[in-house]
This record gives sequence, structure tokens and C-alpha cells, in this order.
Amino acid sequence: MEKPRINLVGCGRVARSLGRLWSSSGTLAIGGLYSRSASSARSAAEFIGAGRPCDRLAEIGTADLWLIATPDSALAVAASALAAEAPLRDGDCVFHCSGACTSELLAPARAAGAMTASAHPVLSFAVPEAACRGFSGSHVGIEGELAAIARLERVFTAIGASCFTIDARHKMLYHAGSVFASNFTVVLLDVALQCYRSAGIEPETAAALMRPLVEAAIGNALRAGPAAALSGPAARGDLELVARQRQAVGDWAEDPGRAYEVLSRLAIELAARAPR
Ligand SMILES: NC(=O)c1ccc[n+]([C@@H]2O[C@H](COP(=O)([O-])OP(=O)(O)OC[C@H]3O[C@@H](n4cnc5c(N)ncnc54)[C@H](OP(=O)(O)O)[C@@H]3O)[C@@H](O)[C@H]2O)c1
Repeated sequence: MEKPRINLVGCGRVARSLGRLWSSSGTLAIGGLYSRSASSARSAAEFIGAGRPCDRLAEIGTADLWLIATPDSALAVAASALAAEAPLRDGDCVFHCSGACTSELLAPARAAGAMTASAHPVLSFAVPEAACRGFSGSHVGIEGELAAIARLERVFTAIGASCFTIDARHKMLYHAGSVFASNFTVVLLDVALQCYRSAGIEPETAAALMRPLVEAAIGNALRAGPAAALSGPAARGDLELVARQRQAVGDWAEDPGRAYEVLSRLAIELAARAPR
């Protein structure tokens, strides 16, 4: 039986990583590759080792699945262009990979007869080679039309992902979970390094001080849950020290001072939920 074919619109990090995984596993045949710049479509074809770069959407050819992998801000425009210019057929499956936007953005493709969904791989694609190596065992959150969900579950499961469904109404909040867990953890580490530096600690010493604290905090929170892993003045109920430290941090820098105050409130609330 002939393999289902996928076209890729927007040939950046996610499209080329998934394209390589589907092609090398024999799950999907890679059809046309279209991107804003012709050079991206060409380099994606090289990275994937398959696919036909094309300069215009009208030349992309037919496919069973269509991945629109532009930045989130361009998804609506790309979906309209796809519906107007590409050879979409009734029942083709059009999807995007955004964690924050819903498949509603693909309404123009649905109006043209396609079924639509979104599939969000909870993984960093910053380095496509590394994303391909680490993809198996990752999680993919899917929402959209039922028939499209079933189709996407098949193709993502075939490359080693575990799929789960998301309620489209809460997708922004769902995505905020990853922002807090991943992006803001990094921001807090940067603020911590700035505190050490401003207190006169050398950068290498600061990094060495921070490492065991970060590893223990994250390890314990993942193993036992955040409430059991919490330590520090707020967790101990030392509110006088919390107030003095908030003042010191605020005198040093305004935004970290505000962050200290809000995070201390959240820490006190979390401590109240700790197992006794
Ligand atoms: N990066 C991640 O870790 C990650 C993880 C999960 C989900 N996602 C989601 O995956 C999607 C793609 O992200 P990405 O990281 O792969 O982005 P990216 O690396 O920036 O690639 C986006 C590509 O789309 C092309 N493009 C922009 N506007 C276009 C348009 N109107 N028509 C056609 N092509 C257009 C870009 O331009 P050129 O052709 O000029 O290169 C670029 O090649 C996003 O929805 C994102 O939220 C990303």
C-alpha cells in the first residue's frame, strides 16, 4: 500500500525535524516543501533527505496531510494562503504544531473541505538534530476534529510519541504550564546569578553554588511534588526574614523585588499545602 504523503508549509526547525522522523521511519512520504524563502525549503529537503522544494504554493502538489509550521503569528495568514492557492482535497488533514493557538486558526482550510487539528510536541526543537534524537518518548498534545485527531495520533505514535488530548478552550493556560516550567525556570536562574554577582560572588563560584541547589530542588519536586520539595524562609514561616529580604532585593533592583514578593506569597501558600 502506498504511504500517506505530507506537505510542509513553513520549513523551519519543527517541520524539518518531524519531516526527517516521518521519512526515516517510513511512516509518511514527504511531498512538497514550501517556505517564505526558497532557501529554507531547499535546506529542509537536504536535512530531511526527501521532499520537493517549491517556490510557489500552487506548485506544491497534493498530499494527505499538511503541516503548517510557520511561527504562530503567521499561522492564520498561511492557512488562508493554503486554502486559496494549494491543491487541497476534501478530507485532507491540515494541522499546526502550536502549543498556544488552537486549530480554529485553520478555519479557511476547513472551509475548503479539509479536516483540521493541532498537535503540540512538548519538546524543544531549537537544535533539530537533537530534537530528532530525543523525540521518541516525548508527549504530543492534540485538539481538533475527531477524525483529524485519530489520524495525527497514528502518525505521531509511529515515531515514538505519547499523544494526549487538550481542551481547546484552555489551550493558552495549558501552554502557560510549559512557559512556567521551562522558560521562567531559566529566567529565575538568571536572576539568582545576578543576585550572587551583585553580592560580590565570582561567576564560577556562583554557578557552583547554584548547581546542587537547582538539581536538588527540581529532582525533589519531580519525585515528591512541589509542596514536599519546598524549603527556604517562606516555607519555614519566617515572615520577618521574608520582609527584610524583599526590601533588600527591591533596593537592589525593582523587578526582582516585585518577583520576590509575589513568589514569596505563592511559596507561603504552597507551604500550607505541604504534607505534615
Ligand atoms: N521551536 C520549538 O521548540 C517548538 C516546539 C513546539 C511547537 N513549536 C511550534 O512549531 C511551529 C513552528 O516553529 P519553529 O520553531 O519551527 O519556527 P521557525 O524555526 O522559526 O520556522 C518557521 C518557518 O516558517 C517560515 N515562514 C514564516 N512565515 C511564513 C509564511 N507566511 N508562509 C510560509 N512560511 C513561512 C519561516 O521563514 P523562512 O522560510 O524565511 O525561513 C521559517 O522557515 C510554531 O507554531 C511553534 O509554536 C515550536
